[in-house]
Amino acid sequence: MSTLPRVYVTRQIPPEGLKILRESGQVQFELWDSDDIPVPRKELLQKVKGVDGLLCVLTEKIDAELLDAAGPNLKVLSTMSVGFDHLSLEELKKSCVVISCCPPRGIRVGYTPEVLTDAVAELTVALLLTTSRRLIEATHEAKTGGWGTWRTLWLCGHELANSTVGILGLGRIGVAIAERLAPFKVKKFIYTDLEPRPELASVINAEYVSLDELAKQSDFLAVCCALTPETKEICNKDLFSKMKNTSIFINTSRGGVVNQEDLYEALSTGQIAGAGLDVTVPEPLPINHQLFTLKNCVILPHIASASYSTRNAMSALAANNLLCGLRGEAMIKELKL
Ligand code: DGY
Repeated sequence: MSTLPRVYVTRQIPPEGLKILRESGQVQFELWDSDDIPVPRKELLQKVKGVDGLLCVLTEKIDAELLDAAGPNLKVLSTMSVGFDHLSLEELKKSCVVISCCPPRGIRVGYTPEVLTDAVAELTVALLLTTSRRLIEATHEAKTGGWGTWRTLWLCGHELANSTVGILGLGRIGVAIAERLAPFKVKKFIYTDLEPRPELASVINAEYVSLDELAKQSDFLAVCCALTPETKEICNKDLFSKMKNTSIFINTSRGGVVNQEDLYEALSTGQIAGAGLDVTVPEPLPINHQLFTLKNCVILPHIASASYSTRNAMSALAANNLLCGLRGEAMIKELKL
């Protein structure tokens, strides 16, 4: 019987990551061999029993129930995502200190920042332009006979030139978005965050403002923050009511940062001009959801990082994080708990 660490991989991950795991000779791993259907929770709870390592994607909730089901061997968790709102940090943190009533779990966590920054920034720009220049409406009209004579105000949208672009949550992705938007002759970049981030802001010459000012001044507001208890539904009635009715709202972070009822209200009453969403609650968003009825709302199925090279790089980083962690070495990208 093999004495190699046992690992469960919750998804058929892209080939580069799989190759690294296979060729490492360091682990024996089992895989949920589908990319189309997530591993059912009941099966996952069975499969993780006694594993030393777990490689997951963002559809798996890593909470107390799962950590308890895995048991004390589990020392390394590697998620193939930059977002970590599917991980119960409280549970993982709790596990790092010795609490008399429960033994410490001591689980280390790897994640995949940076390798997806370019892909997410690219997609955000694409979604912003698609929304502001009404491309989905336009192709629909062209295909379905709505294209009559050339008209002076038909399908007019809002342009980036001379605009103010606001970034809610300035990190690597926000900077990468601004760098791509700057050549469109944006007049001003502004941002808000828990506190000013001068080093990042100086790269794009962005001014720190309050959330209120961000809402008031932005012609385009791009949400780039992580979903945390502090940012949950931070984009709500209050924020939308302060935005200009010519403004475009873009979210490629997590659906949970938006109150979708309030967004529907803002879009359907003309409080704001349009929204482009790559992320929603829930995912997939039911096809009868009210947001799908709006012409001024473009909804994508969480594809911001979906380029072949990026998804391969994410899988390779997730595999390497896992292997480093199992060897007891520093992970390439380790989450500080
Ligand atoms: C992430 O990694 O968190 C993205 O949302 C998916 O690539």
